[in-house]
Amino acid sequence: MNQRRRRIYEGKAKILYEGPEPGTVVVHFKDDATAFNAEKKAVIEGKGVLNNRISEFIFERLNDLGLPTHFVKRLNMREQLVREVEIIPLEVIVRNIAAGSMAKRLGIEEGTALPRSIIEFCYKNDELGDPLIAEEHITAFGWASPQEIDDIMAMTIRINDFMSGMFAAIGIKLVDFKIEFGRQYEGDLVRTILADEISPDSCRLWDMKTSEKMDKDRFRRDLGGLVEAYQEVARRLGILNENDQGKPSKPTLVKS
Ligand code: TMP
Repeated sequence: MNQRRRRIYEGKAKILYEGPEPGTVVVHFKDDATAFNAEKKAVIEGKGVLNNRISEFIFERLNDLGLPTHFVKRLNMREQLVREVEIIPLEVIVRNIAAGSMAKRLGIEEGTALPRSIIEFCYKNDELGDPLIAEEHITAFGWASPQEIDDIMAMTIRINDFMSGMFAAIGIKLVDFKIEFGRQYEGDLVRTILADEISPDSCRLWDMKTSEKMDKDRFRRDLGGLVEAYQEVARRLGILNENDQGKPSKPTLVKS
């Protein structure tokens, strides 16, 4: 008899289920797309499958580099097994080229290369719309300790260096991205590890030659062609072959 899995949490694009062993969680990638704090919503068939694959690919490479992440293994088309963490309530944003909210806030033209990469923090709180904060807020309100902030900064710089190179090698500019970290408890020890996902939902990716957007801005800005753009990212990363559309209806991808 099939047993019902315990649902731990449902977010805008993912569902978390209790994992098969203590300390593990199953992440299910939905096809739901939201923007502007869920004011705009749609279901985009195939998005979850592609994000599961792309995030798996990037987290595996980061694990290989010795960067600690929550990723254990992909389970099937839409799901991956991860280590359970307590999410640190910060959205860490890295910017290499001015775009999005920073371009708007500071009146900088989108596409302007930044003289150095900029790391921003937002407080992860949907009710407040994830407001931009300073490091002082983080320590004053105890959202993360100074040691955790140091670890996050060091890992974030490594992740940006690695990902910028990885995408440049396939003709894509890594404009900016958002990552999240968690606390992994092991007996008396707690360590900070990369959690959540890295996918075209959480990055801005521009084609180097044409500057075409290959990320969730296609949905935010009503440009269309989101799945095709994510497929192209996956194809260039070498994780989809030519007939592989990243859609569950295609028999080629039904195997896990
Ligand atoms: P922003 O320019 O809108 O602040 O976005 C910066 C980066 O963070 C961009 O790559 C998209 C990503 N992002 C998320 O992953 N989740 C969000 O809720 C927002 C607002 C941005």
